Amino acid sequence: MSSHGDPIPMTSRKCGPLKGTALVPGDKSISHRSLILGALTVGETKISGLLEGDDVLDTAKAMRAFGAEVTHHGEGEWTVNGVGVGGFAEPENVIDCGNSGTGVRLIMGCMATSDITATFTGDASLRSRPMGRITDPVALFGAQSYGRKGGRLPMTIVGAADPVAVRYTVPMPSAQVKSAVLLAGLNVAGDTVVIEKEATRDHTERMLAGFGADITVENTDEGRVITLKGQPELKPQTITVPRDPSSAAFPVCAALIVEGSDVLIPNIGLNPTRAGLFTTLREMGADLTYENEREEGGEPVADLRAKFSPNMKGIEVPPERAPSMIDEYPILSVVACYAEGKTVMKGVKELRVKESDRIDAMARGLEANGATIEEDEDTLIVHGMGPGGLPGGATAEARLDHRIAMSFMCAGMASKEPVSVDDAGPIATSFPVFEPLMEKLGAQLVRTSA
Ligand code: S3P
Repeated sequence: MSSHGDPIPMTSRKCGPLKGTALVPGDKSISHRSLILGALTVGETKISGLLEGDDVLDTAKAMRAFGAEVTHHGEGEWTVNGVGVGGFAEPENVIDCGNSGTGVRLIMGCMATSDITATFTGDASLRSRPMGRITDPVALFGAQSYGRKGGRLPMTIVGAADPVAVRYTVPMPSAQVKSAVLLAGLNVAGDTVVIEKEATRDHTERMLAGFGADITVENTDEGRVITLKGQPELKPQTITVPRDPSSAAFPVCAALIVEGSDVLIPNIGLNPTRAGLFTTLREMGADLTYENEREEGGEPVADLRAKFSPNMKGIEVPPERAPSMIDEYPILSVVACYAEGKTVMKGVKELRVKESDRIDAMARGLEANGATIEEDEDTLIVHGMGPGGLPGGATAEARLDHRIAMSFMCAGMASKEPVSVDDAGPIATSFPVFEPLMEKLGAQLVRTSA
């Protein structure tokens, strides 16, 4: 079932060369943070290029429920009139974050140090995901949480009336947890310190600094030590959201595996905490180039050009690269089917607690379509079949996971027989224009009946 309606089964069949320009939507991580930080600011924050996927729209609704005025003006154009740090009102109803782990976890962090109570829920995927990674640190600030067994949603958080600043080492590589703790620290007197052993995406740190918070980052033997001075007065901003490298991954990878393809994907953020997939693809021998490299809003940006790459070789992806490409392993495992030799992905156990268990979802779907896969708790190994690629011919389960659905649709663009997914509906959470965008490049996607 889709998170927002009936299942949409979809089939992708071998297509001719993918050609043209792909304008992918705004970055999902930065879109959530733009709305949330705008809501914590007194005055008007202007946002352009906001991703209008279901995940971000659910965060917009949540910010309204906490008292911010969030207005849609036109495609990607939004304003937020916020309530200021510590100004959240108590929501009158349950907050439904749909499919979005980022939305619910950041918002839980944000409200946990205000004297209010809120109850959160989401779709079946989100209700199965662990929230203890948020409730543990917010308890240190003084918040209480009441959820289902295993720390699952629905869950009520009673915010701390007199929160105390904390020093917290994030136990797993997670930008969501790091961000939740920092956002909680905003409404607390004194310094909140967050330590991460491995660097994860740093949008929260960059954007908090941009909104005027006093935040410093030090690289030490302990890891990245982030210190945030509490109770700042955040200043409204004008934000242009860069295009999402995690969405760019799909047209890039499809172009690499479909014979004769040549696709330009302009304006992609290449923040090193997000660009691990592109490094990996280049190491595999992909014809992927960066054109017009530049800086925008303090972030490295380039236009990506991806061409059919018949000579890719499987590699061992260094485990320490995982945080910088954590959302890209599903599509990498598709590309790996079209390379010669084994692609070994180690240090990827966090994939088991994403929108679905992504190791299992990719392994089962690729096997059904004729690939040979090995896996353990923390590893995924794909045996490549060269440019002749995947046999295809089967339906994969999307498991309410947008990136699983898009990965199998890309796989089918080059496989011998078509590849199907049982439900392409979740694609709307992060890449609502995936279907027309890929079709315009030349893909053949067909909605099939259930
Ligand atoms: C995100 C962090 C990552 C990523 C997710 C977006 C964020 O999750 O998978 O899609 O915006 O902070 P984790 O923090 O669970 O690794």
